[in-house]
Amino acid sequence: MKRSLFQHIIRLFPAETTHAIRMALLRFVGYLPLGKWALRKSLAPSDTSLEREVMGIHFRNPIGIAAGFDSNGDYLTELGAAGFGFVEIGSVTPRPQPGTPRPRLRRLRKQQSLINNSGAPNRGLEQAMRNIRRRNRHTYDLVIGCNIGKLTTSPRSRIVKEYLRVFRNMYQYVDFFVINLACNTSAKQYVPRTREEILSLVEPMFEFRRGQLDYRPILVKVSPDMSKEELDMVVDILIETPLDGIEAVAGSTALNNGERGAVCGAMLTERAIEVVRYVAERSEHNYPIIGCGGMMTEEDVRRMFEAGASLIALNSGIRENGLKLLRRAAKVATKK
Ligand SMILES: Cc1cc2nc3c(=O)[nH]c(=O)nc-3n(C[C@H](O)[C@H](O)[C@H](O)COP(=O)(O)O)c2cc1C
Repeated sequence: MKRSLFQHIIRLFPAETTHAIRMALLRFVGYLPLGKWALRKSLAPSDTSLEREVMGIHFRNPIGIAAGFDSNGDYLTELGAAGFGFVEIGSVTPRPQPGTPRPRLRRLRKQQSLINNSGAPNRGLEQAMRNIRRRNRHTYDLVIGCNIGKLTTSPRSRIVKEYLRVFRNMYQYVDFFVINLACNTSAKQYVPRTREEILSLVEPMFEFRRGQLDYRPILVKVSPDMSKEELDMVVDILIETPLDGIEAVAGSTALNNGERGAVCGAMLTERAIEVVRYVAERSEHNYPIIGCGGMMTEEDVRRMFEAGASLIALNSGIRENGLKLLRRAAKVATKK
């Protein structure tokens, strides 16, 4: 994808700084008189054929933001004004966690990829709730998902309790949930990977949801490093339980050449599309899939939709190529 001069300049900074500059500018423009209008005019896709009904939720368009881009929901107003269909905040943990010391996000320039070793830094459940409560009218038709993750320091025995705590508290604030089954790269972590472990996480959530007036879809986010058998097992859970969908994929710790961290960006594109295609075929295209991973260009997005994704979540594509990717990606969906 051709980059503007601005994109070339901010990519001279380390990857995490590039992101911070972009988000600070987005906020600055949003503060200006007519700033949010300008964001909408210059970035937001407007075609009404982009609207989608997925998981019983109305999306103004199927292009959204993946976890780890706006972890605390700090920029919901700006991302809403910019026209994204949804923002998945998180991973949210019950308490704040600082993540790994910097530098923790490395750019692989030639490969248009990033190695993420950030350890899911976020300001915790309370701050995420505050940010969502504060959102303004520009976010009214922005769908918000909450990705739930594990506190790095928590022992394995607490994980079910902690995930449920975030789920229950966020239930009234967000539209859907994503349970992260991929590895938080900051430590040799427990990752729920067996059928029993995954069920022990989601079943208390199903139980809580049964007692609520409003229905919040629950998805699990799979790792690109899962074997065929592991993916089959997740799809079986999808078919046999009230689980609503799958997000594929998180960063890969198999593509990182031994370096600590998860590979995101262009190096992930082929595997992400492959996993989405596999999961879609295995579930006979009957369930929603959020396609994520290596969506750097409109061509990647087109192929991800063709593979069976109902929605697309962007992260590295915007970090590396800028917010204009939203409109280009949406164009592909218009033609769909
Ligand atoms: C800096 C950074 C932080 C991330 N943090 C999280 C996270 O907290 N939880 C999560 O589920 N995924 C997280 N991810 C993974 C992304 O949501 C996404 O699955 C992955 O980056 C692949 O998409 P991409 O190739 O478009 O970046 C993070 C990715 C990056 C680059």
